[in-house]
Amino acid sequence: MVEPNGLMHQPDPHGAGDFRPGRRPLPLVVTTEASRALDQDREVAAMSRDALLAGIDRLRHDRRAVILAHNYQIPDIQDLADLVGDSLELSREAARTDASVIAFCGVHFMAETAAILCPDKRVLIPDAEAGCSLAASVTVDELRRWRGENPDAVVVAYVNTSAAVKAEADICCTSANAVEIIKSIPAGRDVLFLPDSFLGLFGERMAGRPVRLWLGECHVHAGITTQAVQQLLDRYPDAHLLLHPESGCINAYLSTLAQADPPDERTQILGTGGMVRHVATCITPVHIIGTEVGLLHRLRKLAPTKQFVALKEDAVCEYMKAITLPKLYRCLRDLVYEVTVPDDIAHRARQAVDRMLAVQ
Ligand code: 13P
Ligand code: SF4
Repeated sequence: MVEPNGLMHQPDPHGAGDFRPGRRPLPLVVTTEASRALDQDREVAAMSRDALLAGIDRLRHDRRAVILAHNYQIPDIQDLADLVGDSLELSREAARTDASVIAFCGVHFMAETAAILCPDKRVLIPDAEAGCSLAASVTVDELRRWRGENPDAVVVAYVNTSAAVKAEADICCTSANAVEIIKSIPAGRDVLFLPDSFLGLFGERMAGRPVRLWLGECHVHAGITTQAVQQLLDRYPDAHLLLHPESGCINAYLSTLAQADPPDERTQILGTGGMVRHVATCITPVHIIGTEVGLLHRLRKLAPTKQFVALKEDAVCEYMKAITLPKLYRCLRDLVYEVTVPDDIAHRARQAVDRMLAVQ
């Protein structure tokens, strides 16, 4: 069930989803405070790539830091990280690590989640303005208003939300567990799902119960269309299609999957961690990858003899790409930018995250 909330949403006449939200201004990452600081930084300006790599290695030991990198990070960052993973894997590693400093190479909400889970650790992000268009698509005031209109509903917040929004939710989910989380909610309770309408729709169909959707979207995934998918399926008839549930064409594939008999093993809707696991175990030699293109580096390293085709070559998250070697070096050298969450918000947001972790 899609619920237009009157804030920003219009029906989508193009069939990419049930509705396509109107656009909000995207956070700018071209000239951030971190990039301006680097313009003035003579030490970093004089460093070659090799010198930066060596410097990061030295600093991570001096600082007793662990470097966590999301699957969409640039290849250099993935290659030097202590762990590369999806949002859930990185949160879990953050909660487990005994390092004193976590250098989080990802976007701001992910570093906030690490800060919520590790109040005794110093969580750093190399560029504090590495945001997320999806997380920016819902504010605390909007969620309070929505909840106020549905006082008995259970609020499920995708982890791609600010800590302040998580603090207003009952339970969190990731792309890897959204279906399980929705299924875990007692029958008879209304479910409000935010902010990604495509992931929410996927959850609704797979869990088999109605869900009210906040009509937010990720500007990178919302542009993945059925036309692009069909063209590549025609060009690579033996390929498997791996599609992220934030994709704008998800509606069309949910119907295809639901009607397929026998089940369609060729089309898989998976978060980035699920895509990695699928590739690791499946013998199909060609995969079409429907998500941000950074994941292809990880997949090619994992399965160098297989062919990976980007479903949309310009599916590039500029927030993820705002994290660079010079910024990571400066982050470890100067211990910037520290990500903190006020105690009250952290406490309430943690309850929502812990409820999610308890479901598995
Ligand atoms: P995953 O949790 O699947 O890695 O997704 C995070 C994300 O930001 C998708 O755009
Ligand atoms: Fe956010 Fe989309 Fe970037 Fe993921 S790809 S971090 S959802 S803007």
